[in-house]
Amino acid sequence: MNILLLGSGGREHALAWKLSQSPLLSNLFIAPGNAGTLQFGTNLALSLNDFDEIKIAVLKHQVNMVVVGPEDPLVNGIHDFFLSDPDIRQVPVIGPVKKAAMLEGSKDFAKQFMNRHGIPTARHQTFSKPTISDGIDFLHTLRPPYVLKADGLAAGKGVIICKTLEEAESEFTRMLLDSTFGAASDKVVIEEFLPGIELSVFILTDGKNYKILPEAKDYKKIGEGDTGPNTGGMGSISPVVFADALFMQKVEERIIRPTMNGLLSEKIDYKGFIFFGLIKVKEDPYVIEYNCRLGDPETESVIPRVTSDLVQLFKAVATQALDAETIFTDPRFTATVMLVSGGYPGHYEKGNIILGEEQVTGSMVFHAGTVLNSENGDITSNGGRVMAITSFGETMEDALLKSYENVKKINFKGKYYRPDIGFDLT
Ligand code: AMP
Ligand code: GLY
Repeated sequence: MNILLLGSGGREHALAWKLSQSPLLSNLFIAPGNAGTLQFGTNLALSLNDFDEIKIAVLKHQVNMVVVGPEDPLVNGIHDFFLSDPDIRQVPVIGPVKKAAMLEGSKDFAKQFMNRHGIPTARHQTFSKPTISDGIDFLHTLRPPYVLKADGLAAGKGVIICKTLEEAESEFTRMLLDSTFGAASDKVVIEEFLPGIELSVFILTDGKNYKILPEAKDYKKIGEGDTGPNTGGMGSISPVVFADALFMQKVEERIIRPTMNGLLSEKIDYKGFIFFGLIKVKEDPYVIEYNCRLGDPETESVIPRVTSDLVQLFKAVATQALDAETIFTDPRFTATVMLVSGGYPGHYEKGNIILGEEQVTGSMVFHAGTVLNSENGDITSNGGRVMAITSFGETMEDALLKSYENVKKINFKGKYYRPDIGFDLT
């Protein structure tokens, strides 16, 4: 079959790598892709939110399935667009319809959903311009630190954690009155701070059945020791040692099953990945957020550990036959280290030549922000996160050691990486 994969990050390179291993795949198209995805298919210069353009490409290339990497097109309704158009209705989309993608697209929607279905999460209330003073009152009922969340999509930057009440009041007011996150902060969720350690749990669902993928831990902060501003993610490891069988049983019973039952009872059809951003507080799991897609850079650690045929799994999602499938996993550890552009997540340079990829041995290289110059064959940086290096190991330390050996072999001006991925788990 012919598959169109949407996205251009390390996640999509890892998915392209995996999909291309399936005997069920004929042609892979990636839009827009990066210099890495070119190894596995044809990059198409499409805009992810121009659904008419995507439809034309689907018809032209006889695409039989669309796999959506990032959240934007899902929250904007790409799956609904396909379902409503007789020309492409029969092409399955792996990724939820808009209503279901609201689990990520609106923090308020997600919180209300969790409340309706008794899913453990931080206590919260949602406010808008007319209820600012109620929000200030609510802040006074909480203890520091204070968690403020823009309701809508804010490219992973919509959460502010404030140490003092004064700071929380002023940030909260600015979010609503000065639209610090644009329309995304027309509504603001204030919630209780949960102290604990985070992890990412993923399922693949056909709307009725689900399969749990290997869990991962992501390192979001730019600086060593989890300091400095948040990024898209600086590295990941899988499995997560503290997510033992008992903890994962709690996750399934208290979070995954009630989420699936909630979707079913509310008649929200969900086909695709659900990413549970969880926090372990003492011994119990709580939901920090839902995402309607796989994580990046979690995918770069999780997908290499999946040994089942991903195209076959996606076909089962489309036909609602996932109950007949099994997700087999490699028991070894994977560790992913992200190479980023100097200055990221603030201002950074693009267009720097990347050298040394051919020197890498014993690790996988997944490109993120890279582009191939077709005139001279140079691969140059094209984003904040540039490349992910993933390795297998019998232990987490072995996997990390191998990734860090290979990280040294890749060079570009301004290269930066966190030297301490996994530091909190050893
Ligand atoms: P989110 O965009 O919802 O993933 O939030 C970004 C980050 O803020 C999370 O990864 C957590 O580190 C932190 N965070 C969000 N909500 C809470 C909370 N209620 N308690 C503690 N930390 C939180
Ligand atoms: N790594 C976190 C995310 O993809 O949202």
